[in-house]
Amino acid sequence: MNNGDSYLESLLSNRKIVRSYKKVNFDKKTLNKIASYTIKIPTAGFSRGIEIIQVFNENTIKDISNLFNERKYTEQGKDPWISHSVALFFIILNENAYHKRYSEDDKAKAINSNDWDVPYWFVDAGAAMMNCMLLLEEQELSSGFMGLHNTNRKSVHNLLDIPEDYLIMGMITAGVENEVNPKSSSKLQKKKLIHNEKFSK
Ligand SMILES: Cc1cc2nc3c(=O)[nH]c(=O)nc-3n(C[C@H](O)[C@H](O)[C@H](O)COP(=O)(O)O)c2cc1C
Repeated sequence: MNNGDSYLESLLSNRKIVRSYKKVNFDKKTLNKIASYTIKIPTAGFSRGIEIIQVFNENTIKDISNLFNERKYTEQGKDPWISHSVALFFIILNENAYHKRYSEDDKAKAINSNDWDVPYWFVDAGAAMMNCMLLLEEQELSSGFMGLHNTNRKSVHNLLDIPEDYLIMGMITAGVENEVNPKSSSKLQKKKLIHNEKFSK
């Protein structure tokens, strides 16, 4: 807690996406509560359609890194990332849980969940992602995020026995950062993201 930051503020301030991990031996027992607190989130209508798969097994982590074509990146000189993770966490969405919940009697007057302008399952999944990253930060591990837009989804479903009607929102990697690089975002132009009282340009 430096700079007068609270504990939560310091976790938020230190967290950053890291894509290069050292190969380490890590006591995974310290991670046994990550999954349950990751899904400690509010969900629309308390639908509870967000689930998580935690992967600690080294062989499975290796298989997953192959499915994500890590070798293509290491051959280009990039550092290993997924394969050196001490754990991987998949946030998976059960969209049907939302439709089922919103077809119950007490939701008869609510807008049909098929017509939502904001699909709340993505909102809830994002909340879980952030919980997971902060819980890892608390364990002094770095985290990264990998979407499946360049990966054969079916192969991941098959490997992890994920039912077809679930959507894998993404994978959170957990590891020990290889070397401390200055934040790349410092090169980026500053963007106004906070508005006081009213939206302003
Ligand atoms: C929803 C989402 C999807 C992302 N997808 C990927 C991805 O597929 N691969 C990747 O390397 N980084 C991915 N990222 C990470 C971002 O590209 C980027 O590193 C991050 O916004 C930087 O923020 P930070 O340095 O404050 O952590 C994703 C992040 C989010 C939130």
